[in-house]
Amino acid sequence: MKIRKAVFPVAGMGTRFLPATKAIPKEMLPVVDKPLIQYTVEEARAAGIEEIIFVTSRGKTPMEDHFDRSPDLEEKLRCRGQIELLHQIESLVAEDTWSVFSVRQNDPLGLGHAVWCARDLVGDQPFAVMLPDDLIHPVTPDGQPVAPVMKQMVEQFERVQSPLMAVMEIPPDHTNRYGIINPSGPQDAEGLIPVTGMVEKPKPAMAPSHLAIIGRYILTPDIFPLLGKQRAGAGGEIQLTDAMAGLLKNHLLYGYRFRGVRYDCGTKSGYQMGNLALALEVPELRRYLLPFIRERLGYWEKMPPA
Ligand code: G1P
Repeated sequence: MKIRKAVFPVAGMGTRFLPATKAIPKEMLPVVDKPLIQYTVEEARAAGIEEIIFVTSRGKTPMEDHFDRSPDLEEKLRCRGQIELLHQIESLVAEDTWSVFSVRQNDPLGLGHAVWCARDLVGDQPFAVMLPDDLIHPVTPDGQPVAPVMKQMVEQFERVQSPLMAVMEIPPDHTNRYGIINPSGPQDAEGLIPVTGMVEKPKPAMAPSHLAIIGRYILTPDIFPLLGKQRAGAGGEIQLTDAMAGLLKNHLLYGYRFRGVRYDCGTKSGYQMGNLALALEVPELRRYLLPFIRERLGYWEKMPPA
């Protein structure tokens, strides 16, 4: 079955980035020259997704405006003959091949609740969930281009027809920042790992593995009744991870070791690393950045460590 819809839980307040996010959504913070949200929307479209469903909250309209027409701006660019920029701006607009919908999450009850808020828009087909904070750059660590991660996952879903979630190996002392899977067997040649359970943000001593769930999922609609009756879990929130464990009754579930480099743009350090890594890939920025970084490194290496 084709994956046509993707849910983007984007209702978070972005408090980690205050004061930058006082008047703009954190998803609109730029990474080099595009807002963070645009990377994940482009990834969804590259995977053939036709409906993007934003689960939003108060103050998130700039994000919806970003994917809508801007007649004054378009006219100005046309008059000035800035045609390439005009095409870029026009290509952001949802048209007949894809659409953007949004639904409000009225209470901040957690990721599981956010996904549940999209139930009527999703309907009865398998769908994707994509967390824009996880910026997954489609290159290998040594710079070889790979398919965007949701495209990789859609291919895997077509093969196994079971729910899956992106996973990556993390340092043992970071388990309390992620959902952690309990693998029930080895990884296959395509990168799929069968899962027998999962736990949200366990302490290192309680973690069943060091394989963390990263913000890309393909789920089946029977997750919604499970989310509807899910009680608050880790951090007092309704967790998607807990409801997914319930899917194990009727489905095989897989972790997918994706190809690509993930930047955790939900943290200041990950956001800065993402900006720097992507900026260094742009030749005219690299020209200025590399000498600057060398010079700054020389300075900081003489300083006592933080
Ligand atoms: C969420 C999920 C968690 C997952 C993480 C990936 O946590 O609940 O299972 O590992 O995203 O980024 P959050 O980062 O919203 O606390």
